[in-house]
Amino acid sequence: MRKPIIAGNWKMNQNPEQTREFVNAVKNDLPDTNDVEAVIAAPALDLATLIDAAKDSVLIPAAQDASVHDKGAYTGENSPKVLAEMGTQYVIIGHSERRSYHHETNEEVNEKAKALFRNKLLPIICVGETLEQREAGETEDLVATQVEAALAGLTADQVKTLVIAYEPIWAIGTGKTASADQAQEVCAHIRQTVAKLYDQTTADAVRIQYGGSMKPANVKELMAQPDIDGGLVGGASLKADSFLELVHYNN
Ligand code: G3P
Repeated sequence: MRKPIIAGNWKMNQNPEQTREFVNAVKNDLPDTNDVEAVIAAPALDLATLIDAAKDSVLIPAAQDASVHDKGAYTGENSPKVLAEMGTQYVIIGHSERRSYHHETNEEVNEKAKALFRNKLLPIICVGETLEQREAGETEDLVATQVEAALAGLTADQVKTLVIAYEPIWAIGTGKTASADQAQEVCAHIRQTVAKLYDQTTADAVRIQYGGSMKPANVKELMAQPDIDGGLVGGASLKADSFLELVHYNN
């Protein structure tokens, strides 16, 4: 059984004060961590506050990116080693906003995945197609290429613990959600890709999230799909009440 994982990706929103208010508002109402993992990926500037405010709760702190280097002359980068020392558990890598605005390549995403494992952090690896690519019928090949490149050189045991987030770019922040069938189709394809690269046991263990305008109104239907094990949620994760509805999708 794969444990569901609902992760808020705050992107560049919230300040430390809002972060503390949010955590205080949700921390006593989160689901048992054995049932659903509730994760918040905060901006780096809010992470220390998030970790401090969440320390007596089951809320899991995550970062939105990390350097491939542990330390050194890399101005503006965030060290995966320090993220781990602070108490971060997951790190999102390869988000389409970083691939597009910061020109991150599949190879860099792979280097980042290795840097995270080196520091005992777990990657949430984002993949997904543009509308143009979908309309050209390229979605499956593109997503398989992104998955294969991101996982290159990782062991099956590592892959079993990481998370892959399928985020169709045309559904991000647009209010346009992929239909449950569309999301399931690609998530199933991602799982088959992992089975081809590794084996069925590894594919059955890896958790796959859907991301792209997930909200309280559609979370239940998306989470009911056999290959969707969670959500990576932007806009709808910013408000405490909406985040609580998402993590309690099952009630
Ligand atoms: O990483 C989450 C994401 O890109 C989806 O954003 O605002 O469409 O839920 P949103």
